[in-house]
Amino acid sequence: METESVSEVVIVSEYDIVLARKGIREAAVECGFGLTDVTRIVTAASELSRNVFLYAGEGVVTWHVLHGAHVGLELRFIDHGPGIEDLDKAMQPGFTSGRGMGMGLPGAKRLMDEMLIETEAGLGTTVIVRKWLSSRFE
Ligand SMILES: Nc1ncnc2c1ncn2[C@@H]1O[C@H](COP(=O)(O)OP(=O)(O)O)[C@@H](O)[C@H]1O
Ligand SMILES: [Mg+2]
Repeated sequence: METESVSEVVIVSEYDIVLARKGIREAAVECGFGLTDVTRIVTAASELSRNVFLYAGEGVVTWHVLHGAHVGLELRFIDHGPGIEDLDKAMQPGFTSGRGMGMGLPGAKRLMDEMLIETEAGLGTTVIVRKWLSSRFE
């Protein structure tokens, strides 16, 4: 699968979440997504960037267009924070270890077409989400 140049934002402050949202919005529009999908992608990006900032303190978000049999947008959220203790629990709507709504991870999964999570206690978390153009999964 061929990829275009990767874009990224290092997340170390609240403001970086705004920058990530902006960059990802532009990439999604450029990729050809309609307004509804752009909003879905930006909402998922917002939740996942916020998780990086809240739970790991810092990390990085990268995104790139996927060119294969289908065109899509892939976002990666990488941190070296504490990791997610119980991933099955964390994926349940309403579960929060803090004072959140517990809708970030399950919401992002619902809004995107694919979600992969790799996490290990003490080492960190990588969340990869993808959205495909042309309603392949609808
Ligand atoms: N990047 C991360 N690093 C460590 N823990 C995380 C991370 N992202 C999510 N979590 C854990 O998963 C839980 C559920 O996340 P989420 O669904 O976004 O809900 P909320 O952020 O409202 O608690 C969080 O409360 C937290 O314990
Ligand atoms: Mg959250």
